[in-house]
Amino acid sequence: MSQNREQWGSKLGFILAASGSAVGIGNIWKYPHMAGENGGAAFTIVYLACIFVVGLSIVVAEFVIGRKTQLSPVGAFETLAPNTNWKWVGYLGVASAFVILSYYGVVGGWILKYIINSISGGFSGLAGNPDAAGDTFNGFITSSYGPLFYQLIFMGLTIFVIIRGVKGGIEKWSKIMMPLIVVLLGVLAVRGMTLEGGMKGISFLFNPRFEDLTASAIVLALGHSFFTVSLGMGTMITYGSYLDKKQNLMNSALWVLFLDTAIAMLAGVAIFTTVFALGANPAEGPGLIFVVLPTVFGQLTGGTIWGTMFFILLFMAALTSAISILEVVTAYFIDQMGWSRKKATIQFGALITVVGAFCSLSYGGGINITGFLGMPFFDVMDYLSSKYMLPIGGMLTAIFILKKWGIGEYMKELKTGMGDADISENLIKVFLIIAATVVAFIIFNEVYFEITGKALIG
Ligand code: PHE
Repeated sequence: MSQNREQWGSKLGFILAASGSAVGIGNIWKYPHMAGENGGAAFTIVYLACIFVVGLSIVVAEFVIGRKTQLSPVGAFETLAPNTNWKWVGYLGVASAFVILSYYGVVGGWILKYIINSISGGFSGLAGNPDAAGDTFNGFITSSYGPLFYQLIFMGLTIFVIIRGVKGGIEKWSKIMMPLIVVLLGVLAVRGMTLEGGMKGISFLFNPRFEDLTASAIVLALGHSFFTVSLGMGTMITYGSYLDKKQNLMNSALWVLFLDTAIAMLAGVAIFTTVFALGANPAEGPGLIFVVLPTVFGQLTGGTIWGTMFFILLFMAALTSAISILEVVTAYFIDQMGWSRKKATIQFGALITVVGAFCSLSYGGGINITGFLGMPFFDVMDYLSSKYMLPIGGMLTAIFILKKWGIGEYMKELKTGMGDADISENLIKVFLIIAATVVAFIIFNEVYFEITGKALIG
């Protein structure tokens, strides 16, 4: 354990950095369209249950492992279980970081491009015309150089923040960007609610439609709860490793979950009120952000401002998540290989950018190295990480505590910093068992589906 390991400057800084990791494209893009398509509040109830049972157990577990060992995932598992295979859970995390950031950086680039489109008044030509907006979006993402250029800028910014370190980079920028995200989203939500007909968007989002809640929506909610809280790849182990013994880890975890959920819902309100007020199609699915929103911003008075605000806040959310992903890789090379922060960040940031370029080009830019799988390389990376790597990583983390490290030792570290608060060991254990079991079932269900073409549920 190095004596001069970097530390967070304050509790607030840590919470903002960890929730900055959690709040990302998943909250502002994926959650609203998933809820919109899968029963509104009915989906949200299942999602909340997943977050507060499975999600909470794993966030706390990751914080505890990180703070105990003061190391990023590989070193952390190696320290707690020397000379065993458990360190592979850490390597799986580093690999997941590679896989996720490669395509996440591409989407970050798309967002930057949409900020420019909005500022230059490009949305007004798309007003009320989803076909034209769809053509614009598809034309852009299937071209070769444009998306690569913006991806490069986005990744450059990610590298820039990480090089500056834990306090001077991650914490500093999270403290600036997180409050801005909340304020901008709040303004957009109020704007949406005060538009005529905007309240119909609220009932679309918050009225439970149980008939639309299929078994596969339940599976979706569980999978998404890992992605949205950045679980299963050691992000929270790494962030936890920069903490001192004074922090109350349960309390910090609850803050992160609360902010992550609140911001996802606020995004849903901002988006659906505006979409309903202008009579656009709410069930557009993934096209909601890049296709439907430009058509509604184009129609709105002051649409250039609202549109620009929206894409800027989305950009900030994406950036605070991207830095947490790259930090997992950087921290591995610092902790385990003794590299300098600068060298690790630049070399691996660059390598991930190159892998990401193949994701981008797989959408029509000319190179699709996984065409033989019948899927663009971009989709393969998304599929592998969200369906398998994160859930498997999260499940193994829970099993590690139950079977290897031992609940007693785990509780000791968890209770450190909690003062007199009493917390039941049995309850924590039951939560971890539920988390591991539910996730194991979901992974099994997915594999079963791939093999037989039929899912057990969903
Ligand atoms: N939580 C981020 C989002 O919602 C994505 C992410 C996944 C970040 C895994 C870090 C690790 O967009």
